Amino acid sequence: MTIIAVDGPAASGKGTIARALARHYGLPCLDTGLLYRAVGLSVLKAGGDPDQEADALAACDFEDGLLNDPALRSEAVGSLASRVSVHPSVRQALVQRQRDFATRPGGAILDGRDIGTVIAPDADAKIFVTASVHVRAQRRYADALEHGGHPDMDSLIADIQARDTRDMSRDHAPLRMADGADLLDTSDLAIDAAIQRAIALVDAQL
Ligand code: C5P
Repeated sequence: MTIIAVDGPAASGKGTIARALARHYGLPCLDTGLLYRAVGLSVLKAGGDPDQEADALAACDFEDGLLNDPALRSEAVGSLASRVSVHPSVRQALVQRQRDFATRPGGAILDGRDIGTVIAPDADAKIFVTASVHVRAQRRYADALEHGGHPDMDSLIADIQARDTRDMSRDHAPLRMADGADLLDTSDLAIDAAIQRAIALVDAQL
C-alpha cells in the first residue's frame, strides 16, 4: 500500500500535480479541499454562518453528490471553505472519510493542507507544493479569463493572501510543511516540468 501526501497553499498547482502523480503511479486521488468546499457551500445553502462552529458542523453531513457540483470550484466557495475549516469539530468530522480513502488496499494520493501532518503522517512520500503569491494569482487570473470571467488581479492577490493567512494561522492543523516532506516550488516551472520534478521527488522517497 503506497500513500502519497501532497500539501500546499491555494493555487500552488498541488491539485494538478496530485492528479498527474495518480496517473503515473496508477493510484486513486482525493482532492480533500473539495470536502471543505462542500461544507462551505452547504452552510451557505442552509442560510447558516460559516464562522459559527455549530452551523458549519451541521453542514458536514452533506450528500456525496455535492462533491460534483461545479459551484464548488469558485473562489467564493474556496474562501467559505477556508472559514469553515478553522473549526476543530469540522476538521474532526472529515478525518475518517480522508483516512478511509488513504488506507484503501493498493494505496492512494491525497492533496490538501494537513495530509502529511495530520491525516497520513506515516505516508510513504510527502511533497509540499508552493509558488509565490504573484504567480499563484496569475494562474487564477488566466483560469478566470479562460472561463469567460472578468478577473481583477488586485483582488485575486488579496484573496490568496487572506486564505494563506487563515490557513497558516489557525490553531488546529495549520498549513505547514510536514516532517519528511520535500519542497517543490513551482513559481518558475511550467506544469510539465513541475510534474516531472514531483515524480522524481516521490520516486526518491519510495
Ligand atoms: O485546496 P482548496 O483551495 O480547494 O481548499 C479550500 C480550503 O479548504 C483551503 O483554503 C483550506 O482552508 C481548507 N482545507 C483544509 N484542509 C485540507 C484541504 C482544504 O483546511 N486538507
